[in-house]
Amino acid sequence: MSDSELYKAVFEGNRKWVKERNADDPGFFEKLAAEQHPEFLFIGCSDSRVPASAIMAVEPGSVFVHRNIANIVVNTDHNALSTIHYAVDHLEVDHVVVCGHYGCGGIKAAMQPRDLGLLNGWLREIRDVYRLHQRELDAIEDTVERRRRLVELNVHEQCRNVIKTAVVQRNYLARKKPQVHGWVYDLSTGLLEDLEFPFYDQLSKVREIYRLTPEPRKDLDLSQD
Ligand code: CO
Repeated sequence: MSDSELYKAVFEGNRKWVKERNADDPGFFEKLAAEQHPEFLFIGCSDSRVPASAIMAVEPGSVFVHRNIANIVVNTDHNALSTIHYAVDHLEVDHVVVCGHYGCGGIKAAMQPRDLGLLNGWLREIRDVYRLHQRELDAIEDTVERRRRLVELNVHEQCRNVIKTAVVQRNYLARKKPQVHGWVYDLSTGLLEDLEFPFYDQLSKVREIYRLTPEPRKDLDLSQD
């Protein structure tokens, strides 16, 4: 297929999709246009092979999405922080998910001694994760295995970064939502795995240092949902 045919095919595909959707559920687009109540905020990698709603097998309207290279939550990134703020405070999502993926080019690049120009600063966040877990990672001899482990550890660190925000702490203490989850997606199998990020445990741990809101009421049991 030529470039212009590929380009045109997008719009033809879109029209076909609309037709099928309207045939299945005549009010589909009207309902969606009225409002959104997503249960999930998905923070994932920009990688073209990790489309949030497709891998979660959910319909439009179910997941609010933020994606960047290597699914990082940076404290000075207004884009990521605004997305988290809006999703948690206004849309009141129940779940915030950080989803990494095996085979992540960002993770791979951060493990190589190369000057990548503008990307250096972004990938520094991943090198910082490596430094925090250097002993564990250096002990893994196989490069592919070490990379896979860094993908997982990066997800856990980014979950902690989500907890470090005032909006997440304040909402959780007020309404016991959202919960923060760490997932990993395997490109080669299509399977999503829950990394069992210990949210309750990490919430209090992170708040030992990054506490931005008052202590919870005594009658609020944080240990269960
Ligand atoms: Co990636």
